[in-house]
Amino acid sequence: MKNTIKLLKINKSYGNGNNKLHVLKDISLSIDPGEMVAIVGKSGSGKSTLLNLIGGIDKPDSGEYYFNGKQINTSDRKQMERFRRNNIGFVVQNFALINDFKVYDNIALPMRYQKKTNNEIKNRVYTLFESMDLIGKENEYPTALSGGEAQRVAIARALACNPELILADEPTGSLDEKTQEIILNVFREINKQGVTILIVTHDHDIARTCDRTVEISDGKMVYV
Ligand SMILES: Nc1ncnc2c1ncn2[C@@H]1O[C@H](COP(=O)(O)OP(=O)(O)O)[C@@H](O)[C@H]1O
Ligand SMILES: [Mg+2]
Repeated sequence: MKNTIKLLKINKSYGNGNNKLHVLKDISLSIDPGEMVAIVGKSGSGKSTLLNLIGGIDKPDSGEYYFNGKQINTSDRKQMERFRRNNIGFVVQNFALINDFKVYDNIALPMRYQKKTNNEIKNRVYTLFESMDLIGKENEYPTALSGGEAQRVAIARALACNPELILADEPTGSLDEKTQEIILNVFREINKQGVTILIVTHDHDIARTCDRTVEISDGKMVYV
């Protein structure tokens, strides 16, 4: 059985010369299919940087990244985008909803990229609406939503295409309890169905729910 994620000696820096910031130092990490893993670490330790590399949004300076045995770090931009669309549901830190699109269309967008029919899209959106307690919000624009609702829409969008891997960057940071509970339940549910989940979190309840926790400290991976 291949690891869903295999990182080998990944390095990532920002800037150069005297301003060079070496964020990830020889990070190696393997995640098996169906695992639910918490990533913790101080603010600025490189958690989002790591998630962006795994999600194919950014590339490492050195090291290797394999997804289901296929090397990703040597791909070009187009291949990376296809990889991301086909395999990954990404919940980014600030939701990144499209404010000009209604809630319905925000969630439908990744399925339209995958050329799903309108009927398939509609069914999927309403299934997600139900599990996320978003019924009645389909015609709202993101700016009219509460933080908790916006986060649930972002998660529904991430789940829309039934990704094999969910990457969630502090999905419950500063949210209401109801939203936290819904998110946790939905993650548990899809994890039970075999979806691999990586969650960056400061929340001890979430970390406890996960199969294991890894910590980034001084740019290195620490197994907690
Ligand atoms: N695009 C960027 N350009 C320059 N520095 C960055 C960039 N992204 C992140 N950093 C810096 O890299 C470090 C790690 O950031 P980040 O991965 O966002 O940490 P975390 O998510 O753990 O808070 C921080 O010091 C941050 O300021
Ligand atoms: Mg972050």
